[in-house]
Amino acid sequence: MADSDSGRLSVSLVDVHEGRERDFRQLAREFEALIATKGYGTAEMVRDEALPNRFYAVRHWTSADAANLCHADVDVQALTTRLYEIARVTHVVNGVQQSEAMRLIVEDRRARVEADRRAGFDRRKKNIGRPEGDRRSGRDRRLGPRRLRDRPGEIDLVDAARRAREHAEATFSHFKVGAALEAADGTVITGCNIENASYGLTICAERVAMFKALSEGHRAFTRIAIVADTEAPTPPCGACRQILWEFGGNLEVLLANMVQEKGKHRLKDLFPLPFDARLL
Ligand code: THU
Repeated sequence: MADSDSGRLSVSLVDVHEGRERDFRQLAREFEALIATKGYGTAEMVRDEALPNRFYAVRHWTSADAANLCHADVDVQALTTRLYEIARVTHVVNGVQQSEAMRLIVEDRRARVEADRRAGFDRRKKNIGRPEGDRRSGRDRRLGPRRLRDRPGEIDLVDAARRAREHAEATFSHFKVGAALEAADGTVITGCNIENASYGLTICAERVAMFKALSEGHRAFTRIAIVADTEAPTPPCGACRQILWEFGGNLEVLLANMVQEKGKHRLKDLFPLPFDARLL
């Protein structure tokens, strides 16, 4: 491996569908063998400690060319198609990153799980919290990682976006938008659009959510929900697609209005041929 290429890393989050773990393990072995035989690099599946069906697919590429050849390889594509049938895949680190990144993601995640566990314990032990008790129901339910860890995948991201929309500052357009971004550790970070008198400094709900998340230390994301009060869905604007792609990768994008879901997309489909750090 050439020195200049030693930092080429791709990491994806793989959430294996219930009951398909055996198929996934078989597929992972085939994939590992294939990319080693063809000289593209090495692949490894790291199991998440807290979520039994979640894995991190870590690929170290021999070179940037090898990574691109691998993506274009029909044998690899056939395996990837099979993978998409049994798992939800989210790209966390795209290609050219320091291999240090994975260590940081995993360590950060572990720290969060630990901190969260402790916070939950302290809260119960000292009975800190609301006088009426710490159990909340309906729209008041907390969206924090503790609940998510118990029941992964059950978070109502769209509802979180609907609630965030209520906070929109849309004095000029009267077009309120809410967004809810799910981080890889299950935390939900919300955003709404913020307009001001200069108009041009307006920031969309999606970017508010992403910038909040980044500023709080999140670096890996799985889904975003976007809500507006319109019949037709409100997809993210071009600027938001760029930011979501660079920091969120191939997110699942849920579009909804106040009463129903209106569409589910992958960001890659909404943002084909992206410009990003791989091209610098
Ligand atoms: N807006 C968003 O917040 N997200 C979108 O996906 C589309 C547009 C906001 C920006 C502005 O405050 C208002 O909607 C009208 O464009």
